[in-house]
Amino acid sequence: MGQSAFLHHSASMKYDKHIFVCTNQKAEGKKCCGEEFGMETVNRLRAKIKEANLPIQVRAQRAGCLDVCAFGPALVVYPEGTFYGSLTTEAVDRIFEEHICAGKVVEELEIKF
Ligand code: FES
Repeated sequence: MGQSAFLHHSASMKYDKHIFVCTNQKAEGKKCCGEEFGMETVNRLRAKIKEANLPIQVRAQRAGCLDVCAFGPALVVYPEGTFYGSLTTEAVDRIFEEHICAGKVVEELEIKF
């Protein structure tokens, strides 16, 4: 994979890709993403980021409710602002490989507002 697949942004940006994973715990009567899967996802992404040794700065971290609860479990990737929903472990792996490593939005997994 060539470096050209990566989009480098302004030098003032600390991260080339910043992933926020909803870890909001289910509130009564509300469909929510859940802390357990959210934290598993953050840890999975962090391990993959470390292992991949990418030529860009990537950070994955927990977030509160992203306000897309009906589509959860969810995460969002910046700077694109791409929201992904209905996450499974397989979906997270695909987002990592295609969006983070290859720089291509995974349209099938994207939340369509
Ligand atoms: S609880 Fe995850 S987006 Fe709202």
